[in-house]
Amino acid sequence: MIHRNLVRLAALVCAVSACLFLASHHATSAASQPKPLSSFDAQVKPLLAQMTLEEKIGQMTQPEQDGMKDLSDIEKYFVGSVLSGGSSDPKEGNSLQAWTDLYDRLQQHTAATRLRIPLLYGVDALHGHNNVLGAVIFPHNIGLGCTRNAALVEKVGRITAEEVRATGIQWTFAPCVAAPQDIRWGRTYEGFSEDPELVRQLGDAAVRGLQGADLANPLSLLACAKHYIGDGGTTFGSARGGRGLDQGDTRLDEGTLRRIHLPGYIAAIKAGVGTIMPSYNSWNGVKCSASKRLLTEILKQELGFEGFLISDYNAIDQIDRDYKKAIGISINAGMDMGMVPTRYREFFADLKQLVEEGTVPMSRIDDAVTRILRVKFAMGMMDKNRSQLADRKLHKSFGSPEHRQVAREAVRESLVLLKNQNKVLPMKKTATRIHVAGSNADDLGNQCGGWTIDWQGKSGDMTPGGTTVLAAIKKAVSKGTQVTFSKDGTGAAGATLGVVVIGEKPYAEFDGDRADLKLSQADVDAVSHMKAAGIPVVVILFSGRPMIVNDALDKADAFVAAWLPGTEGEGITDVLFGDYKPKGKLSHSWPRSMAQIPIHKGEKDYDPLFAFGYGLSY
Ligand code: BGC
Repeated sequence: MIHRNLVRLAALVCAVSACLFLASHHATSAASQPKPLSSFDAQVKPLLAQMTLEEKIGQMTQPEQDGMKDLSDIEKYFVGSVLSGGSSDPKEGNSLQAWTDLYDRLQQHTAATRLRIPLLYGVDALHGHNNVLGAVIFPHNIGLGCTRNAALVEKVGRITAEEVRATGIQWTFAPCVAAPQDIRWGRTYEGFSEDPELVRQLGDAAVRGLQGADLANPLSLLACAKHYIGDGGTTFGSARGGRGLDQGDTRLDEGTLRRIHLPGYIAAIKAGVGTIMPSYNSWNGVKCSASKRLLTEILKQELGFEGFLISDYNAIDQIDRDYKKAIGISINAGMDMGMVPTRYREFFADLKQLVEEGTVPMSRIDDAVTRILRVKFAMGMMDKNRSQLADRKLHKSFGSPEHRQVAREAVRESLVLLKNQNKVLPMKKTATRIHVAGSNADDLGNQCGGWTIDWQGKSGDMTPGGTTVLAAIKKAVSKGTQVTFSKDGTGAAGATLGVVVIGEKPYAEFDGDRADLKLSQADVDAVSHMKAAGIPVVVILFSGRPMIVNDALDKADAFVAAWLPGTEGEGITDVLFGDYKPKGKLSHSWPRSMAQIPIHKGEKDYDPLFAFGYGLSY
């Protein structure tokens, strides 16, 4: 009886604290310090002592959900974690229901294992829960960098966490705390800024937002700072096959590497980040995923990181042709969990042999598993009284107007006004006729960019609930205002004003490396056609980085860099029509020509088209 009352009392306390959290979760205190992960060691130790070598290695093994030959492999290999990479969708499609069912289906398998240690499920929720139809899609990090608003970035993280947890998933491979130094890199938009100090501030905010004040809260999402280290500092042409930058070699002395590329990790660790992903790239010819100096000496020993390291997707394979040897090198360097989408059986068997042969010491395995279990204890996953299945009550707020409102605010604050001749902006909602044009004016997929529904992203109307710029303009104008549209900018004559939305098409990772960042001919033509109509022209650019825009910029009366804003196009019209003043400041230097790239603030002879920090207002 007493016991039952105690249980009831505990339930009541939990319910009250959950309500308090719900009421305050949009304003997590930036000052609050999370519990150190090592404080869970007293709980980890007795569990570790019961585990067989196989059970330990299972915790270190992360297959991809659709890479598993058979879901009973979860039991057979004591799998501790699974992932869905960019295109690893549920068989039934990308609905909220399908994702939640997938999570539950996999999680249920751990109930049949001896120790019943739940699975950690990881996805790339990089700008909202971007794999799921109807999720709110936030601006990519490059745009958030222009907001300079850490409190807002934290709020974005909180909402992302809530939408991801609605599907049961507990882990995102985010934030990317790269400091991209060369905008030809296809992942430039995943980082907040070229400036390590800005990356530090916003990396801290993102981790706090995603993880909340306490990882044990059911609305907290485990974060992963990536890609450690120097992913944004590779030398052009050093990537595989001599092409581009992605996964290439970062050729810097240790002092420079630390100064430019380490601050984001220092901040993330201070904010309590539970996981870090070592990068595909090399540092002076040595793969980061193979470097004991980087993983063990700097991260774990010097910076005191107590969480665990997850390898990048098949990154271990790149260390050596001999897979077993590669595994030994990486684990001994300090890798704790292998992201081994399809080779998990081999990884499991090879690592077991490496331990039995004495190549990988048992102490290294125990350290890795301790780190993984710390995180699981910290997240309340080991609490036998707590269901590890998805809390479907959270579906109610998924993609909600309240969540969209925060994304709209983020879009609004991320816009950088580069030119505003004759005060063309703000425009009037009562204009007689506005002509809208351009390849990106009515394309939600292009507005969201890569890592949206598909790994590489895709053009078109790919997710419900979003608003394109064209739709947002139609919504904002007065009843008497006519809004006309032509993709190529023809037919604008007689309009009061023209708005052309141009820029890049979606891409992710190496597919986005470009040696030339000029605009497409169709975009240049669309601006010219509008200009030829003799009306004031406002150009909006959607892109994952600054582009070489000189001709379009000259022709434009006003020019707005809008980055990859996501689903909430009304954040753009908020500024175009003057309900809010533009506030964004460039998070990257904007070059005059390709010959100026790479270019960074603080360099001698720094002479960009627009300097880092530039941005006009009304
Ligand atoms: C990317 C990571 C990502 C992982 C899992 C890799 O290709 O480099 O950023 O987290 O895939 O999808």
